[in-house]
Amino acid sequence: MHPFKTIVCLCLVVGLVFAVSGLVAVAQPKQTAKKKTSKTAFRPVQSIHDMMEGQRKLWIEIKEGIVDKQWNEAGKSAWILAEVANVNQYQHKSPEYKDLARKMSADCVKLAKLLKKKDESGAKKMVKKVGETCSACHEQFK
Ligand code: HEC
Repeated sequence: MHPFKTIVCLCLVVGLVFAVSGLVAVAQPKQTAKKKTSKTAFRPVQSIHDMMEGQRKLWIEIKEGIVDKQWNEAGKSAWILAEVANVNQYQHKSPEYKDLARKMSADCVKLAKLLKKKDESGAKKMVKKVGETCSACHEQFK
């Protein structure tokens, strides 16, 4: 082969190697991105057990607050319980579990709003409804 042709060939081979390694480099970040999402994916910091102890505490505060007509205090606990229940949906893979946790959360938001309005009978009805969701989930998953 003519020396010039050999050089051209070598250049092509070297170029090809660079092109391939370039493609591989471009493909890499996707994997790192995947790892990042799983690292930043939402995860509750509490075990279900500890979360439930907290739910019980808030639940008692709400019911006692209604009895004592401490609407503001009961309302704050209802808001926190709504958020804890909202997080509770990430404690389990089952769609039924998630539905029950979300239902409880949505009803606690309604409860917090009723308490803000000092709507005693409305709040009592909503407490009953939330209580039924506690039982429904416990029957299936506890
Ligand atoms: C979406 C499901 C779900 C809902 C809704 C739910 N819980 Fe639970 N709860 C569980 C599970 C699962 C356990 C068993 C957890 C464990 O002990 O490992 C449990 C256990 C408990 C326990 C026992 C805690 C312990 O010692 O383990 C209490 C108290 C409790 N829940 C309170 C409540 C209250 C109060 C409500 C409603 C205001 C409620 N939970 C609603 C899933 C739920």
